[in-house]
Amino acid sequence: MSTADIRTEIRHLLKERNAVLLAHNYMRDEVQAIADITGDSLQLSMEAAKTAADVIVFCGVHFMAESAAILSPGKKVLLPRADAGCPMADMVDVSGLQALKAQHPGLPVVTYVNSSAAVKAESDICCTSANAVSVVRSLKEQKLIFAPDRNLGRWIAKQLPDKEFIYWEGYCPTHERLTADRVQEIKAAHPDALFICHPECAPEVSALADHVCSTSGMYSYCAKSTTKKFIIGTEAGILFKLREDSPDKEFILASPALICPNMKLTSLEDILLALQTMQPTVTVSEEVRLKAQAALDKMLAVPRD
Ligand code: 13P
Ligand code: SF4
Repeated sequence: MSTADIRTEIRHLLKERNAVLLAHNYMRDEVQAIADITGDSLQLSMEAAKTAADVIVFCGVHFMAESAAILSPGKKVLLPRADAGCPMADMVDVSGLQALKAQHPGLPVVTYVNSSAAVKAESDICCTSANAVSVVRSLKEQKLIFAPDRNLGRWIAKQLPDKEFIYWEGYCPTHERLTADRVQEIKAAHPDALFICHPECAPEVSALADHVCSTSGMYSYCAKSTTKKFIIGTEAGILFKLREDSPDKEFILASPALICPNMKLTSLEDILLALQTMQPTVTVSEEVRLKAQAALDKMLAVPRD
């Protein structure tokens, strides 16, 4: 089957099954190009919550499809590659989080959406990189547990010096491959460029940035900026839409190591097969779903700054 035929068949099956195709900003270019909606974790979870489709085809990693299943009970959620996981999400488990909660009784637990449904169910409120500062600011408590991303947690703490954090020491292996030395080097090679990075980067890398934001935050920042050249400190998939949105601007990936192998797994063939077989599905038990939904709903209710 030619690529054009695969695309046509995907669109045909999406219609026939009343399905919506959601793709994260880190997906392969051809997957982003065929998606109904692309976005960051926050935008995609909001889309999953409000879609009228019967089926959600989630092109992303497992925790994102789980969030869609939590927020859209009754809908079928397909994750075309069942093996697309997130190593950071796998760094925290329920028993470990329970043990940390037992050491700090009464503290609210704020959990990054890059986590399993079961871990969300053990949490008070979720956050994404786009709303993390607003979520932590909204807490009445001064002290909190933050899991699983130590880098995102430390970046929020810098914005909110009045809050006191107990960190889970998880991290994104892709973002941690970007070193401060490499950033210094590439900044020196392009002194006219702005350096923007994701808060999943290590603190010494974020400290070198002109702007730190979520993936969608990068689109709006670069589109609005009068600067013509940007060094990008996040996963390579973001370049597709950055270049499409601003063809007159130059975008340089801060390091060739910024590729998340899990985000690169899903191909057009995988999407087609998922729509043909209606598998693999992602489901969450009702007991876990209800508790995880409460944490996600609290997050969605926090007004953005
Ligand atoms: P967002 O900026 O889309 O929230 O996500 C970053 C990420 O690592 C998703 O896996
Ligand atoms: Fe997980 Fe990092 Fe890949 Fe995002 S980029 S899915 S946080 S490993």
